Amino acid sequence: MPKIIYRFPDDSTRTVQAAPGTSVMEAALANGVEGIVAECGGAAMCATCHVYVESAHLAAAPAMSEDEDVMLDMAYAPRAANSRLSCRLFMSPALDGMEVRLPERQRED
Ligand code: FES
Repeated sequence: MPKIIYRFPDDSTRTVQAAPGTSVMEAALANGVEGIVAECGGAAMCATCHVYVESAHLAAAPAMSEDEDVMLDMAYAPRAANSRLSCRLFMSPALDGMEVRLPERQRED
């Protein structure tokens, strides 16, 4: 099964296995990975699942939709060239070993 490596703000990591078709957000919630809030439940309407793809897998990731692009502009943490909504990153064998860095915060609390 494809693996996802989550890198936390303190630089520690956690590796999780996710079946193809599972989103990086769903895999985080299912495995108790902290740092992804996912207020909208994966509807690309909250940007509280923002991650930075830190590995070469960005090019193999599903294409960014216009909705995701607009929503990333509203993310709490600064947007970067490797920013994605983790609810729109669906795992596939090509993404095996993908590393995603979690922002310090997903929203203003
Ligand atoms: S879970 Fe809300 S935008 Fe991804």
